[in-house]
Amino acid sequence: MPVSLIKSKDIGHQSCQFALVFAAHVLGVNKLSEIFENMEVNKSNARKRADEIKSYRCKNLIAVLEYPMDMKNIGAVIRNVNALGVEKTYIVDPRNSLPDDWQEMRERKSLSKLSVSAIKWSFVKRFNSTEKCLAHLEMNRFVSIVTSPHVKGKDNFILHEADYTQPKLAVWFGNESRGISDLAVESSTFCVSIPMFGMIESLNLGTTSGIVLYEVTKQRREYQKKYKRANRGT
Ligand SMILES: C[S@@+](CC[C@H](N)C(=O)[O-])C[C@H]1O[C@@H](n2cnc3c(N)ncnc32)[C@H](O)[C@@H]1O
Repeated sequence: MPVSLIKSKDIGHQSCQFALVFAAHVLGVNKLSEIFENMEVNKSNARKRADEIKSYRCKNLIAVLEYPMDMKNIGAVIRNVNALGVEKTYIVDPRNSLPDDWQEMRERKSLSKLSVSAIKWSFVKRFNSTEKCLAHLEMNRFVSIVTSPHVKGKDNFILHEADYTQPKLAVWFGNESRGISDLAVESSTFCVSIPMFGMIESLNLGTTSGIVLYEVTKQRREYQKKYKRANRGT
């Protein structure tokens, strides 16, 4: 409690001083400085890790969630996005279940918990509609591809048989019950399926994002590595 009081941005200078004195009184000065030292160590560990993973990040790769209903799935996707080195997540959220501002999303306890804090490290942007999200992607020259357990649109590929090395790529995932929208399918270059061998119709959204984004990021990292090597040789 005292630490979160001290960290709060909303409290003024005087209240902050009061909080520090209060915390020192309740915890004791030694305990308080131990907490600050731990915070510094955690910060520098995080900075070190951020530097280590920087070159593995897949730039210009966005995961798009279209009308996700379940916060647990949103949290799972953001966790996968962060773990696999995808640059950003876009969420089409006409129900307004998420705040507009990423900073506010980061401060939402439920999202932080469900994504095991990945939301703090991965940028998330929300859109009111599929149209608005597509317009934003097109304006920034992103190519969209969709995912579905069914054959959708003109070109369909099995996950590991498609190429994901387009300069700017957005990978769309559909709603838990309705799947991906016709508009997203029409605006995409192809549709990708994970082959399934069971009796059920589809995989869970969070699970799908992990499997699809693993293949996509693997290909993009290999491509980035080759491209870097080739450039070094010239
Ligand atoms: C639970 S599924 C939706 C099922 C829905 N009844 C449908 O027709 O697509 C949620 C999302 O996960 C993704 N998904 C699920 N299984 C998939 C699979 N086998 N291959 C590719 N994407 C899949 C798709 O993006 C889908 O829109």
